[in-house]
Formats: sequence, structure tokens, C-alpha cells
Amino acid sequence: MAERHASSLAVNTRKSLFCLFILTSTLFILSWFFVLRSTGSPHFIDHKLLPNSKLLAMIDNGISGSESQNDVEPSVGNRSILVDKEEEEKPTISSQDKEASQANNDVKCNTNGKLALKVFMYDLPHEFHFGLLDWKPQGRSVWPDLQTKVPAYPGGLNLQHSIEYWLTLDILASELPNPPNVRTAIRVQNSSEADIIFIPFFSSLSYNRFSKINPHQKKSNNRLLQDKLVKYVTAQQEWKISGGRDHLIVAHHPNSLLDGRMKLWPATFILSDFGRYPPNIANVEKDIIAPYKHVIKSYVNDSSTFDSRPTLLYFQGAIYRKDGGFVRQELFYLLQDEKDVHFTFGSVQKDGIKKASQGMHTSKFCLNIAGDTPSSNRLFDAIASHCVPVIISDDIELPYEDVLDYSEFCIFVRTRDALKKNFLVNLTRSIGMDEWTQMWRRLQEVQKFYEFQYPSKEGDAVQMIWQAVARKVPAIRMKLNKSRRFSRSYVRKEKGLSRIPSPSNFW
Ligand SMILES: *[C@@H]1O[C@H](CO)[C@@H](O)[C@H](O)[C@H]1NC(C)=O
Ligand SMILES: *[C@@H]1O[C@H](CO)[C@@H](O)[C@H](O)[C@H]1NC(C)=O
Ligand SMILES: *[C@@H]1O[C@H](CO)[C@@H](O)[C@H](O)[C@H]1NC(C)=O
Ligand SMILES: *[C@@H]1O[C@H](CO)[C@@H](O)[C@H](O)[C@H]1NC(C)=O
Ligand SMILES: *[C@@H]1O[C@H](CO)[C@@H](O)[C@H](O)[C@H]1NC(C)=O
Repeated sequence: MAERHASSLAVNTRKSLFCLFILTSTLFILSWFFVLRSTGSPHFIDHKLLPNSKLLAMIDNGISGSESQNDVEPSVGNRSILVDKEEEEKPTISSQDKEASQANNDVKCNTNGKLALKVFMYDLPHEFHFGLLDWKPQGRSVWPDLQTKVPAYPGGLNLQHSIEYWLTLDILASELPNPPNVRTAIRVQNSSEADIIFIPFFSSLSYNRFSKINPHQKKSNNRLLQDKLVKYVTAQQEWKISGGRDHLIVAHHPNSLLDGRMKLWPATFILSDFGRYPPNIANVEKDIIAPYKHVIKSYVNDSSTFDSRPTLLYFQGAIYRKDGGFVRQELFYLLQDEKDVHFTFGSVQKDGIKKASQGMHTSKFCLNIAGDTPSSNRLFDAIASHCVPVIISDDIELPYEDVLDYSEFCIFVRTRDALKKNFLVNLTRSIGMDEWTQMWRRLQEVQKFYEFQYPSKEGDAVQMIWQAVARKVPAIRMKLNKSRRFSRSYVRKEKGLSRIPSPSNFW
């Protein structure tokens, strides 16, 4: 009996020891969480470095409430698109957002409270920009005098990638005695006052015009020009100070700047997509997606209705042999016999443009299928035609998506779904007049964000791109400041590193 009692006592002791162990372990793990949380605001913890990061992130969000996740994006969106009204509707903001908006305030400089990005632009020799348009300098300036004549950009499909031209014109126009419009970006002559350093190279035009190799040459003129550019830019004081991190360069044609980008990648690129870029050279965090200039005329005074657009689904485009081409071909077989569906192959050229305009103006939905690269001009043609885009391109990145909700005026379909029989037709037929009309209205509102023109107009593509650049400035500054962490001590010790400036030299 006593023996039994003793053994049960032993069991009990072991049980309670075990409980104690569990309790202390739990406390220990909990305290670990709290120590981590108290090392700073949750946003400063690099979740990637910690085990169980998803769990931590969940806990963070649970504790810090809804403020951080829900409010930030729309408020940023409104502030940035509606430049004029920026002070009017500032919803309650989290501390992180406050920081961001404070940084944004540095960007402003106009007295009327408008956002003006300060741009330092290199006076590159004319062969890099307007010389490619067969313009020749008169006198000493490397720039055309916009008050006498604005050099024209070659028409046709070249225009799709003419973003470099419109941005450069806009910066030049900011120096005119009476600038012709609201300024989103202004040129400054002192680079230490600039938010960004612009390299005005017409890279897409250089690719379009000079990528053929002449018989006696080893390299095309396009590549030679890029070599020259890299040499020029990397020799500049501004580049040396920042290692290029605060530079901006346009490479909108997917094949443009193929050589230069390997040296110039610390800069921010303005691109059509990331299709041909390794992620360390270009990515959404660092770079900016700009729209193509649409080749189809915009539908002015569009009084069409759901019923006056008889074609349900419209696609006209080139067929490619690569991955994207496979999807196009499969879709063609799926859709070719459908009633109300227009699906033809052929590039949009010359008289094709007129036909395509007509086609898109009389269709409810326009298909955008990934081609050689995830983006295509078709999307912007569809927007200009107020034909609701149906986007089948899983890796597409869209212009200004940080401030614009594309689901309000586009339908997105995953490629694997689009390839299911009847899926696309069912989906588009299921969208009724009310829903369609709402999207059509929104298309008319956003259309101006995709218009390139000189002089630029308020809220057009040129100004939207400058605003997108302005939104990158705080991150660029942070990157620059971080890159200088060790520079001071090393400059003192090693003469060899003295080209790294002390922080006060720049910004
Ligand atoms: C801007 O805010 C208004 C209301 O404050 C809202 O209706 C609108 O959708 C917002 N626009 C964007 C682009 O977030
Ligand atoms: C450029 O700006 C910086 C800082 O504002 C100033 O110290 C410097 O003197 C300026 N340089 C010239 C050439 O005006
Ligand atoms: C569109 O409508 C406006 C005002 O009704 C008119 O002045 C303009 O000429 C029209 N544009 C076209 C291209 O029809
Ligand atoms: C499409 O609709 C038809 C008829 O309503 C239906 O039988 C079919 O299952 C649908 N297919 C898909 C992929 O939704
Ligand atoms: C970087 O340093 C400058 C001072 O040189 C400071 O004004 C700026 O706010 C810093 N930027 C960030 C993002 O901390």
C-alpha cells in the first residue's frame, strides 16, 4: 500500500515537473516574441531574417491594428493623382505614412503647393537625343529652341516607345520664360539641389534606327552609342557621388539599352515591362513602368453604349513563336468559331490602324494577351478606345499601379483559366450592361493618364510618370544614406576611397 502510494507520488511529481517545464518554455517563447517586437516598430523588423516570419507578421498586424494595412495605399493614391487637392483630403495617417509624406514635402517647391520634382539633366551631346531625330545644333546649345521649332519624332510604330522624347521636351519646357503648363517637374542647374539626375538618352530610337550592323563594323551604332554613353555618364561627378543611385534613364523598348543597362543599373529605369530583365538589374521597387504611346486614335466624344458595340471580344495582334505565342494560338482555336468574337492575326500597321480603331470602337471587350514580353501596346490602344481590356498576362506590371486600381476598368484572367473551353466567352457574356457601363465610364476618366503630348497637360502620361518618379525619391534617398554608412570613417582612413563624399555634399 505504502509502496503504491510512493510510486503514485513520484508520478505526480514528475507530472507537475513536466507542467512546470511546459509553462516556463511557453513563457520563454512568449518573452522572445515581445523582445523582438520591442526592438522597434514592427516595420523595422526584417521579417525575412526571422524564423516563422508569417506568424510574426500576423501577430504584428493583429496588434498594431488595421491602421497600417488599410489606410496607407488609397491615401497615397489620392494625394498623388490629385496634385492640386493634396492638402484637402488627408485621412488619418499612421506614423509610417507621416514619414513618407514628410519626405514627399521635400519634393515640393512651388509656392502654390504643387508637387514639383527637381530634375538635373545632363547636357549630353546631341547625338544621344535630338541628333537621333536628324536635328542639328544651332549655336552652342545642345538643345533645340522650343520657341522656334519642336523637332518631330518619327511616326508609325516608333511612336509606341517615344516616352524618352516627351519627358525630355517637358524638362526643357520648364526652362522657357513662360512655361506652357502646370509644372510637375522642373529643371535645376545645380545638381546638389536636384531630387533626381536625368540622363536624356533616346534609347528606344537608337535601337529602332541603329541596331543593324554595317558590313565593315563589329558593333552596331546602337551599341557604340551605348558604350559612349556609359563612358560619359560614369565620368560625371554626379554619378561618382551617388554611384548612379539617384539617376534616371528611359529604356522603354524591351530591346533598348541592352548593353548600357549592365553598367547603368544602379539608376532607376523607366521601362515598358521587366520581361527581358534579370531581377537584380530591374525590378518593381527600383524602377518605373510607363505606358506605351497608343497608336490608335483616342475615341473623342465617345457616345457609344453597351448595345452600340456589337462585337463582344476583339483581338488583333501579331503571332509569336515564343511562350506568349502559344497562348495566342490556343486562344485562336478556342475562339475562332464564336459568334461576336473578332480574332485575327496581323500587326497593326498603316491601314491596319484604321481598321483596328474601328474594331476597338465597336467592341465591348478587348483582349490583351502576353506576347514576346508581358506588356503590349494593345492595352493602351484598348484604353484609348474605351474598350474594356481583358488582360491575359500573368506577369504583367502596369503603370502607376501604386495609385490606380486597374480592377475598376480591366478584367484580369489567369492564363490557365483563359485556356479552358468557354471560360472567356462565359465570363464576358456574364458581365451585364450596368457593370460594363461602369467600367466604360472609368476608362474615360483614366484615359488622360495615358496621353503623351507637348506641351504636357495636367494629369497626362508625362506628368503621371514624373509623379511616379517623385514617389521613388524617398526610397532613393534612403538607399543613398544607407550607402554612406561606412564612408566617413573610411574616407578618413584611406585616401583611395575619398571619392565617396561626406553626407553633407549631397542632399
Ligand atoms: C480618392 O478618394 C475618394 C474619396 O475620398 C475616393 O472616392 C476615390 O476613389 C479615391 N481615389 C483613389 C484613386 O484612390
Ligand atoms: C549648389 O547648391 C549647393 C547647396 O544648395 C550650394 O552649396 C552650392 O554653392 C551650389 N552651387 C552652385 C554652383 O551654385
Ligand atoms: C467633341 O465635342 C466637342 C463639344 O461638343 C466639340 O467641340 C469637338 O469638336 C468634338 N470633337 C470631335 C473630334 O468630334
Ligand atoms: C459556360 O457556360 C455553359 C453554358 O451556360 C456551361 O455549360 C459551361 O459549363 C460553362 N463553362 C465554363 C468553363 O464556365
Ligand atoms: C538622408 O540624409 C539627409 C541629410 O543628408 C536627410 O535630409 C534625409 O532626410 C535622409 N533621408 C532619409 C530617407 O532618411
